[in-house]
Formats: sequence, C-alpha cells, structure tokens
Amino acid sequence: MQIRTIATAPYTDQKPGTSGLRKRVPVFQQARYLENFAQSIFDTIAAPPDATLVLGGDGRYYNREAIQIILKMAAANGFGRVLVGQGGILSTPAASCLIRKYRTHGGIILSASHNPGGPDGDFGIKYNTANGGPAPEKITDAIFAQSKKIAQYRIADAADVELDRTGDYEIGDMTVSVIDPVEAYAELMESLFDFAAIRALLASGFRIKFDAMHAVTGPYAREIFVNRLGAPADSIMNAVPLPDFGGGHPDPNLTYAHELVEVLYGDGAPDFGAASDGDGDRNMILGKHFFVTPSDSLAILAANAHLVPGYQQGLAGIARSMPTSAAADRVAKALGIPCYETPTGWKFFGNLMDAGKVTLCGEESFGTGSDHIREKDGLWAVLFWLNILAVRKQSVEAIVFEHWARFGRNVYSRHDYEDIPADAANGVMKLLQDRFAELRGAQFGHLRVKVCDDFSYTDPVDGSVSTGQGVRIIFTDDSRIVFRLSGTGTGGATLRIYLESFEPDVSKHHLDAQQALATLISIALQISELRKRTGREQPTVIT
Ligand code: G1P
Ligand code: ZN
Repeated sequence: MQIRTIATAPYTDQKPGTSGLRKRVPVFQQARYLENFAQSIFDTIAAPPDATLVLGGDGRYYNREAIQIILKMAAANGFGRVLVGQGGILSTPAASCLIRKYRTHGGIILSASHNPGGPDGDFGIKYNTANGGPAPEKITDAIFAQSKKIAQYRIADAADVELDRTGDYEIGDMTVSVIDPVEAYAELMESLFDFAAIRALLASGFRIKFDAMHAVTGPYAREIFVNRLGAPADSIMNAVPLPDFGGGHPDPNLTYAHELVEVLYGDGAPDFGAASDGDGDRNMILGKHFFVTPSDSLAILAANAHLVPGYQQGLAGIARSMPTSAAADRVAKALGIPCYETPTGWKFFGNLMDAGKVTLCGEESFGTGSDHIREKDGLWAVLFWLNILAVRKQSVEAIVFEHWARFGRNVYSRHDYEDIPADAANGVMKLLQDRFAELRGAQFGHLRVKVCDDFSYTDPVDGSVSTGQGVRIIFTDDSRIVFRLSGTGTGGATLRIYLESFEPDVSKHHLDAQQALATLISIALQISELRKRTGREQPTVIT
C-alpha cells in the first residue's frame, strides 16, 4: 500500500463548537476540508502506533464518503485497527459504548446531531477520547490551532472498504472491523434495566410509540423495543434512517417532532411516547396528552433511580448544565448528594463522571445520561422511564404531578430565536453585559434582581476555567432569565432565552408554563431590546 503525503493549506474556520465541527455539507465537500480537519485531529492526539479507533456516524448525507476518507487517513497515520459500524452507522451513545468496551484510543463520530441533513443540510465531525466522551476544550482548542497551520495530510492509496457486510478488511497494515452497530449497546442497556419488568408492562397492554425521526435510532429501537422487549413493530415510527432524515429536522421537541406529538395528544393516544434526534443522544418524553420537560425528567429519574437495577446502589451526585432548571438540585438535596452546575455541553460532565463525583447528568436541551457511557443517551432515558413506569404502574402524568407535589415545581421554558443576523444577536448580548451594573438591584414589579453576571465555571477536577457561558439574571425569589448564544448552529446566530420560576403551591401546578412565566418573558424582551434589534416578534421554537 502506498501512503501519499498531500500538500494542503489551512482553512481558517475549523473551530469546533459546543459539540465538534459542524458546517453545511458543501463546506465539507470543498477540496481538502475534511482531510485537513481529520489530519489536525490525528496530529493533535498523536496516538501510539497500532492504536484502535472507533468510527461511525448518524447516516446523514456524506457519512459514507467521509468514512472512506477517514479510514484511508487512519491507515496512513499508523492506526492498527478501526472499528466501524456496519453501513457506517453508529449512534453517538453506541460509539461511546464501543470506545469504553474495547478500550480504544478514542473515536471519531460523524454527525451534526439534530441539525437537518441532505446535500444542503449540515454535516459534522467530533473526536471522543478514551473515556468515551467528547474531547475537552484543551484538545478541541489544540485541534483548531493545528488546523490553522496544517501544511500536509497523509492518506493511503487504497480501494474503498465494503461497509455493508460485517467482517475484517485490510487497508495496508490496518484492519477495518465492520461490526454490528447495535449489539454491544443493546447488551449494555440490558445490563442496566429490568427488561423482564418492561416486557411484562408492554405485554399488559401498555402502549408505546417511539419516533426515530428517520435518523440513527431506528435500528437500535427495533432491536431493543421490538426484538428484546416484545413491543409491536408499529410502536416505532419513522424507523428507517435516511440521509436527509426524510426532509425533517431530527430534533425531538414539541415543534420538530410534531408527528409524534399529534399521536400522543390525539384520540386513542398510547400511554407513553418518546423520540430521539439525528445521532441518538437526545430524548423527548411524553405521556398521554402530557409533555415532560427535560429538566423535570432528569429530576424524576434521579428521584426514582432506586427502582432501577443499574442504579439501586445509589447515586454519587447529579450534574446539570447551568441553563437547566434547578429541579434536580432539589432531588439531590433530598438524597443528600452533591449537585454540580456546569456550562452547556456534554463535554463538561466527563471529568465529573470520571472522578466518580456524579452518576446522572442532564441538560434542558433534551439530553439525559449517566456514567454508563460519556455521552448523553436518548434510548437510555426512554428505558429508564419505562423501567420506572413498570415498577410504579402509574401514568407519566401522575408520576410528574406527584413529583411536583413532593419537591415543588420548577416552571421552565426555553425560547429560541433561530437564524438571526449575527450582529443583532451579538448586539443583544453586548447590551445585556453593558447593563449589568444598572440591572443589579433593579425592581421589576414584585421581582428584584439579585445576581446579574456572565456564568463562568471552574472544573472541580482539573481546575480549568470556562468563561462567557451565558448571561444570568437571577431574582431574589430565585426565578431567573438566562441569555445564551448557540454554539452548534451553522447559519446566522441562534439566541436562546431560558426562563425559570419556582412554584411550591400544588393548586397552581397544572398551569401552562408560558402563562406562569409571562412576567419573566416580558422582562426578558424589555431588557434585551430583542424585538427591536432582531425584528422578530415571536421565538422560532418554544420548548
Ligand atoms: C445545544 C444545546 C446543548 C447541547 C448541544 C449538543 O447547544 O443547547 O445543551 O449540549 O446542543 O447537543 P447550543 O446550540 O445551545 O450551543
Ligand atoms: Zn444529538
């Protein structure tokens, strides 16, 4: 096999965001674009000779082409083996599971998560380290630095590998093992949850509907829910992964998973509904005519973890991202365990889990997970809920209301303004920062500002500091407004406004969140001048 060293010149825009490098497909299709970034990863991680790598993606457009390129580059960069999911498919949680199970040097995941796919959609690439989690900032910063000075990349002159049949193939001295993408992951799930109890629940007439959104979880859901748990085949909708996700936006929320929402809010609705995103790490949980916010879901999983075999021995601690509601904090307090508040992005949970400080983690953005892997995990959250439902034999709604009655309700919502001009978005953030002094102590009706700052975080394990993680306006009654710019978008800017208040009064727990948060919403619009600066009257997405 001949290894070619190809001269290249840097691209200046290869800075990884909240979760890897994400760009439109045509950007990735530019000559040397993917090669430059992959070589920057290999140069940065400097894996020892013959190291093993995991490789796979969510099946979106350009997945297969990218896999062939990366395989040939891995061979030319001295890797000994690459484990690839059959068809190039690996959900993000399954990739994390494989990195840990086979103790590989790391893995490369090809995904733009919940962003739309197809020739004009998004593509993405992310490096995960040996713990199975997204590379920490010091590595992603180093990859970016390398991408700005790269002069050459290495690639093997070899034929494409047959990705659709499992088995071992050779590229020069490197072995490519094409493996079943589902099996190891399904086994891990079976080791954590009471499959017999869930099987009995499903056999008793309890009906579920899972929306795979034509994304990566289809084959995983079929194996787990249908083959292993005995659910009828029509329990899964949009089960076939498609390169453009069937033209949809594979983000499991009330706006983009409306097909599922209509089923769960319709006549003869099933008892339980759930959806996952493009790469299988997010989850949305629904009951019959009922939506569980991700923040509440994390708190409820924590409060009921003792009912689930994999967590019966107790939780070490809980972590949530800063914009996630404090519902989990209340459970942690009741359990007498610590609760950590981290910046947005799963990469901040890795150190806490590796150090044994936390067992469960979650984000308001439909991400929940535990230390079984180092990524958030959509199907894991669904199985956790099913396990709780199998033991408690109550409806989803009843479980949530009982939870609120015990802990109080953290009323919560997020308003996203998508694809606004970057200048307008930056202007809003700058205005808020300039107003910190004026806002501190300011009175808005019955609300008085207690804290006003830009969130920064010091990692308790390695001491690394992350600044500029979102503007917080916290009132004396602990209700709060958070403003943040998205770090995952590829077009324009997305401004997120997170709103939260606490309601201890059971008689008000049935209230609609938008109504209950109306005062905070109007304060947010007023102090940010958002409507004037962006020309938007309404958010694009409300969750
Ligand atoms: C979004 C979510 C964040 C999540 C990330 C990756 O990032 O808000 O919680 O970790 O996607 O799924 P953002 O676009 O806000 O930077
Ligand atoms: Zn995702």
